[in-house]
Amino acid sequence: MKPIKVGLLGLGTVGGGTANVLARNADEIARRAGREIRITHAAAREVNPAVNTSGIELCDDAFAVVNNPEVDIIVELIGGYDPARQLVLQAIENGKHVVTANKALIAMHGNEIFEAAQKKGVMVAFEAGVAGGIPIIKALREGLAANQIEWLAGIINGTGNFILTEMRDKGRDFADVLAEAQALGYAEADPTFDVEGIDAAHKLTILASIAFGVPLQFEKTYTEGISKITREDVNYAEQLGYRIKHLGVTRKTDKGIELRVHPTLIPERRLIANVDGVMNAVLVQGDAVGPTLYYGAGAGSEPTASAVVADVIDVARTMTVDPENRVPHLAFQPNALSDTPVLPMEQIVTAYYLRMQAADRPGVLAEVTQILGEQGISIEAMIQKEPKEGESVASIIMLTQRIVESQMNEAIRGIESLDVIAGDVTRIRLEHLDR
Ligand code: HSE
Repeated sequence: MKPIKVGLLGLGTVGGGTANVLARNADEIARRAGREIRITHAAAREVNPAVNTSGIELCDDAFAVVNNPEVDIIVELIGGYDPARQLVLQAIENGKHVVTANKALIAMHGNEIFEAAQKKGVMVAFEAGVAGGIPIIKALREGLAANQIEWLAGIINGTGNFILTEMRDKGRDFADVLAEAQALGYAEADPTFDVEGIDAAHKLTILASIAFGVPLQFEKTYTEGISKITREDVNYAEQLGYRIKHLGVTRKTDKGIELRVHPTLIPERRLIANVDGVMNAVLVQGDAVGPTLYYGAGAGSEPTASAVVADVIDVARTMTVDPENRVPHLAFQPNALSDTPVLPMEQIVTAYYLRMQAADRPGVLAEVTQILGEQGISIEAMIQKEPKEGESVASIIMLTQRIVESQMNEAIRGIESLDVIAGDVTRIRLEHLDR
């Protein structure tokens, strides 16, 4: 049988890894796919000498690769919204299958891209876009297809997790760890995407659509990053038996779908609380299977290439399959997507960690607890730290029981307006991840 010809767009960290893995494991891959898979063309501005480019026709014009009639599958590893969107749409228009690691593209333009692909009967595969090497999309779309997914929670940004881990374990400085993550090729081209939660929000948007069969709605995802997390909060959380992780959480409730990315306290006894460094993990709760946990490298050259190449093999295997009978892009048939609303953040329900600076005098705690009580907020645990030498304010740290976010906002507004409270209240959401 004729080899399958791949056109690669981008030879950076992931593109280079993809070329190397496809070359190194060529025989094994051909045995799995039933045909030889060969990168015949690649477009890149620069080529890293460590990348195996033998047999690849190189150029610097990605559109030339997309428009080359010899190429069967386009692998888009340029990243970003543009020109990735035009390239992918052009490839589809040309009747080519597409594999991409571009979560930003899928989260923002996936609805349009899948519709175009559906019309042309081609596949768009994007496993590498979420949680690097972990086959979470395949697990959700196929392995858990019998279940109603109730919720999922994931550590889905390797850079952010690497930063939080190094801060906790080694007391390292935020900027210093970020620079290391960039040097290791983990961080996005714009690292604010990692530290402000945008990358995780892209990935969560995709996971939620596949879990619940709803269109991609990146603009409705609540997004908060790790840039305001202090060592103090990390330490207090530990004293209370919790770890702070940057989590993407999506949950189906009677009223709608929660879709949120933010720093979160998790009980330290949970496996997912012990996922450190650049590793990712996604915990999925299905009605039939119960909880399942998926763990692995969430970023990096060959771990991400592992998912890209698996998608290429998948596409190669299904190229002859009736387009109407392929696994749908978003797991549910395109005409069966539901319009379940995404809940505004004010309506989500969760527990909270609160830290505030209070005047060190009698009655202060009573004023704070009165406000919490008025909002129906129950305190689960509390620590009070004496003022540091030369200071007049004491730190109060509280864990609360679950409450709707709007009531917590109201309580925080009330507490911050008290004369005895200095500055803002720090609020970090807390998830027990047990139901
Ligand atoms: N910047 C991303 C991360 C790369 O750190 O997880 C993988 O998507």
